[in-house]
Parts: sequence; structure tokens; C-alpha cells
Amino acid sequence: MGHEVVPAAVDLLRFLEPEFELVPVEIGYGKWKRVGTAMDDDDLELIGGCDCVFFGAITTPPDPEYKSVLLRLRKEFDLYANIRPYQYSGVHISQYRPVRPFSFTIVRENTEGLYSGIEEITGERATTMRVLTRKGCERIARVACKIAKQEKAEITVVHKANVLKSDIFFKNIAAQTAAQHNIPCSEAYVDAMAYHLILHPERYRVIVTTNLFGDILSDLAASLIGGLGMCPSANLGDEYGLFEPVHGSAPDIAGRGIANPIGAVLSAKMMLEWLGRYKSAALLRRAVGHVIQKRVLTPDIGGKMSTTAVASAMLKYIEEQLC
Ligand code: IPM
Ligand code: MG
Repeated sequence: MGHEVVPAAVDLLRFLEPEFELVPVEIGYGKWKRVGTAMDDDDLELIGGCDCVFFGAITTPPDPEYKSVLLRLRKEFDLYANIRPYQYSGVHISQYRPVRPFSFTIVRENTEGLYSGIEEITGERATTMRVLTRKGCERIARVACKIAKQEKAEITVVHKANVLKSDIFFKNIAAQTAAQHNIPCSEAYVDAMAYHLILHPERYRVIVTTNLFGDILSDLAASLIGGLGMCPSANLGDEYGLFEPVHGSAPDIAGRGIANPIGAVLSAKMMLEWLGRYKSAALLRRAVGHVIQKRVLTPDIGGKMSTTAVASAMLKYIEEQLC
């Protein structure tokens, strides 16, 4: 599906920022089938030589020993903060009907926790080590505090500290970091959070949590705003960023021209903001608002349009705004 949503968003990027140098890199399943590796050192070097990456959903090769390409990129470039914003402005597009508008961001730790990669299966036992470091907890809490400061909001630390010692560690460090930054801080157990996020998403603004909890809550949150096709994300390190829609490669609908480009376009918007191109970012945001208002939408959110038709409607809207 990356082959469909990435070009749609890239067309808009080319139009808005003609001086950007775009370097295409093919990684993932297609490459693995052709040459036996999904991403090689040359790809990594090429990627590392760029300012940031715009990433489309890819399929991890069906080999149990094969580590996800995406996880490798996150680790390789130390992209420790996964930022996933969810907004509902009142224009209804999903089966789920929120009571009030809401806007919250999940700030997910992206390199540690149960994704440590330290694991083992023996005949009788399987273990995965959940590793949290002070550095990792502090830096993700700092990112959450920075967003909360911009939005004049509090942070909510989500954990399972009633069961997991590692989460007592996480929760305490996050609370200390918030206090140092003068950011109001509340906390919630992850199971309760799943419940409350569905019932009253408007109560939350910046949710900070560990890797797997953030992964799960972000799919849950996607269901509140029309589905995974709507959701963008930024994977940020201190100097590098990777921007990608939250959805996966969806092999069941890939190639049919009906992939929702909105998640990818909003990821491009996040990338433009990170690059300081606020005017172009705002135009992308408004173009998405426009197709939602006019209901030029793909089938996953109740429309009948194709990926390219939605993208063309956005491009036309942006052209009109600029002349
Ligand atoms: C996500 C995805 C990835 C994750 C997978 C594809 C490895 O679910 O970005 O949310 O678990 O982080
Ligand atoms: Mg996920």
C-alpha cells in the first residue's frame, strides 16, 4: 500500500516544495523477493544522508527470523519518540460517533520496553525482556512535556505500575520530568485508559507511555477518528525524523487504488512542520479538511473515491488557495 499512498502525498509535496530533493529508496517485501534482503547497508547509508524520511507502509518478509524493517530504522536512527496525534473536529466520518470534539496526542516511547529484542524461545519457555532505561524514560517524558507546553495542556502518564516494576520506574521518572518542566501531570493505568479513551477522549491532551502500550492505544485511538487510514505519525530522534502513516501495508486491499491517502498526507504535514515549512503544512491540513467537508473520500471512511481522486481533489484545492 506504500506504493499507492506515498506517491499521492509526494505529488503534493513536490507541488508545495519544488526545491526539495526527493531521493526514492525501495525497501521491504518487494525488494526482499527480488534480491533476498528487505533493506541493505547501502539503503541505510542513503537514508542517513538525507534530512528525514517519508515512509510508506511496507510488508515485513514472512520469515520468523526477519526483524521488521521499520523497527530497524527506528533503532538505527534512534527515533525514540513516536508522535501520534488524533483529532476529531465534529465532522463525522466513522461508525463511532464521538460525543464532543477532541484532540489528543499519544507520545509513545519507540526504542525500548518490550521491543528490546532481548528474547528467547526454548522448548519449555519463552521470554521477552522489557527494558526501560532512565535516559529513555527521561527523554520521552521531555518530548511529551514540550508538546504539552505548546498546547498549554497537562500530560497523562499511562502505565501498569500496579503490576510491573519497570512501570513504577517509568511513572516516577515521567512525573519528575513533568515537575521539572512545570507541566501538570496525571496518570492512568493502561487498561483503564483503554476504557476511558473510548468513553471520553476529550479528557486527554498528551498521553505519554511505553512502547507496546503506545502501539496498542494508538490503534484503539484510530478507531475513534475513522480508522487507521486517517492517522499520521512522526518518529523523532534528536536530529532525524521518519514520518509515516500509522496504518500497515494492508495486503488485502493493496493494489486496488482505494487506499486512504489522508494518513500519509497528514504525515507529510508533520514532516513539513518539523522542517519549519509551516505555510505548506497548514495548506496540507486544510486540504484534508476540504476533502472531508466535501466528502471526497475513500471507501474505508464511507466514500466511493479512489486514492488518486482524493489526492487530486487536495491538489486542486491547494492550487486554488495559492492563486
Ligand atoms: C506501528 C506498527 C509497528 C509497531 C509494527 C509494524 C512493527 O504496529 O508502527 O504501530 O509495532 O510499532
Ligand atoms: Mg501498531
